[in-house]
Amino acid sequence: MEIEPGPIGVFDSGYGGLTILNEIRRAMPDYNYLYLGDNARAPYGTRSFDVVFDFTRQAVEELFARGCRLVVLACNTASAKALRTIQQQVLPGLYPDHRVLGVIRPTVEVLGEESSGGHVGLLATPGTVRSHSYQLEIEKLHPGMYLTEQACPMWVPLVETGEASGQGADYFVKKYIDAIMKRDPEIDTIVLGCTHYPLLLPKIRKYTPEGIKILAQGEIVGKSLRDYMHRHPEIDCLCSRGGNVDFLTTEAAEGFNRMASIFTGIPVKSTRITL
Ligand code: DGL
Repeated sequence: MEIEPGPIGVFDSGYGGLTILNEIRRAMPDYNYLYLGDNARAPYGTRSFDVVFDFTRQAVEELFARGCRLVVLACNTASAKALRTIQQQVLPGLYPDHRVLGVIRPTVEVLGEESSGGHVGLLATPGTVRSHSYQLEIEKLHPGMYLTEQACPMWVPLVETGEASGQGADYFVKKYIDAIMKRDPEIDTIVLGCTHYPLLLPKIRKYTPEGIKILAQGEIVGKSLRDYMHRHPEIDCLCSRGGNVDFLTTEAAEGFNRMASIFTGIPVKSTRITL
């Protein structure tokens, strides 16, 4: 049976994955995309392993049902807590022709070139920090690199509630940056290990000591996905072209449209679904 090509699925718990979608589209403008934000159940970062796995699996299967053959988990928390189990236990039996990719591995891959002194700071959700997924990947790819992990539990709620550029955000941005710099004053590179955090970038820059590199994942993931497509023509041919992007959310569409239009710079008309 001939398999119809479908859009590339991009999934996040809420708005954060839009920072990844923007950069993937910049790197690969000709493809079609279907974005799904599980805004009704965000944030994921404070939830248990089992819950994040269940929610992520539902979202991935929804995107498959809507024709996606390739889904990017544009969410570190889902990548940390659900990706491996989906890849190893769900896809082989049920969806052998589908692929799911995450954002942690491509980010860790570039750290060798990006960090000048081998002292890296990770700012992420409590779930990603507790999983130690970055530490484990770093041990494999860059033994000798020194990682300090800092959970920033208030940052995603600030973004999801539209407070990222409000005055109240300054307090919590400064708090976690001060905390990580105190734990390792030699940090030369800070990874924004949550796709929501680029939306706080102006404030993160303001409170990060000068000379420290701040790495957001969008560009890294966009480039890595383009390379992946070149290496995997059998998947590339299952991804449709046309340059369209459609949006799904599990919360009210109006609120999503307003916020997502700001974050993507394009008019967004989303559809509300239940998972
Ligand atoms: N944007 C997500 C991440 O990269 C998750 C945020 C959340 O839902 O807590 O981790």
